[in-house]
Amino acid sequence: MRIIRTIQALRTWRREQDRRGDVIGYIPTMGALHDGHRSLIQRARKQCATVVVSIFVNPLQFGPTEDYRRYPRDSTGDLSLCREEHADVVFLPQSAGLYPPRFQTSVTVHELSRRWEGERRPTHFQGVATIVTKLLNLVRPGRTFLGQKDYQQFLVIRQLVKDLELDTRVILCPTIRDADGLALSSRNRYLSQSQRRRALLLYQALSAGKAAIAKGARRSPMVERTMAMVINRVLSLEGTDPRSRIDYLACCDAETLEPVTRLQGKVVLVGALRIGSIRLLDNLIVQIRQDETS
Ligand code: PAF
Repeated sequence: MRIIRTIQALRTWRREQDRRGDVIGYIPTMGALHDGHRSLIQRARKQCATVVVSIFVNPLQFGPTEDYRRYPRDSTGDLSLCREEHADVVFLPQSAGLYPPRFQTSVTVHELSRRWEGERRPTHFQGVATIVTKLLNLVRPGRTFLGQKDYQQFLVIRQLVKDLELDTRVILCPTIRDADGLALSSRNRYLSQSQRRRALLLYQALSAGKAAIAKGARRSPMVERTMAMVINRVLSLEGTDPRSRIDYLACCDAETLEPVTRLQGKVVLVGALRIGSIRLLDNLIVQIRQDETS
């Protein structure tokens, strides 16, 4: 496995790959790698001759009060996971290399960035879109692998790839969960044992929403109430951290992320939950067949 730390060395390596013509599979990450990232690397390994992982905690996608400084960093653990999964290249750039003085360009995917995470974190998706555009220009992968856990991020990246004619196929891979259903996330390591139990409520709420749809619910207010009840009946108990609350729980069109009232076709149930100072995200995609729509 080769570790590349500078843009210049990456460009040189990438020019050599042009001569080989192999398909490059790419997994962009911010490190603190877990089994969710592992599954992305494994998927890329199966489908592509060459696998590149980038590890870069991107300052541009953190708001001023967010956890950029505190974000977990573990390059030793990350490199050993990449080695175990036979990645060919790990790109580990420095912030000053990617954002030199007078850096002043940004990429905005306007509509898909507006709601949900975009509303709560106004500069987040611009930061994501800008860094991912730069990284895709450098790595020039045939395929880019992203996890469903950050579904809005997937839609934003897929759209920028389309709009800017970047020559990569963006592949959505399933959310990897702990045995009890909690979606894996680098930030889960901040959770205490009792917080982790509460964090699980988000998946339970989304699952209750999905079950309600399976039983025939076709109006989102009813499904949203069902999901909210799962969380609120626990969070209303005495002794719960008052900062713990639902940020949003909604039924949306799976392509546009616009809220829908009548549930039909491909719908995504999206949720964000605050447990103490930690924010958790999750979602479930539900396909409602035509003949199931009443
Ligand atoms: O999902 C992430 O880890 C980041 O948002 C990404 C896509 C690597 C961009 O910094």
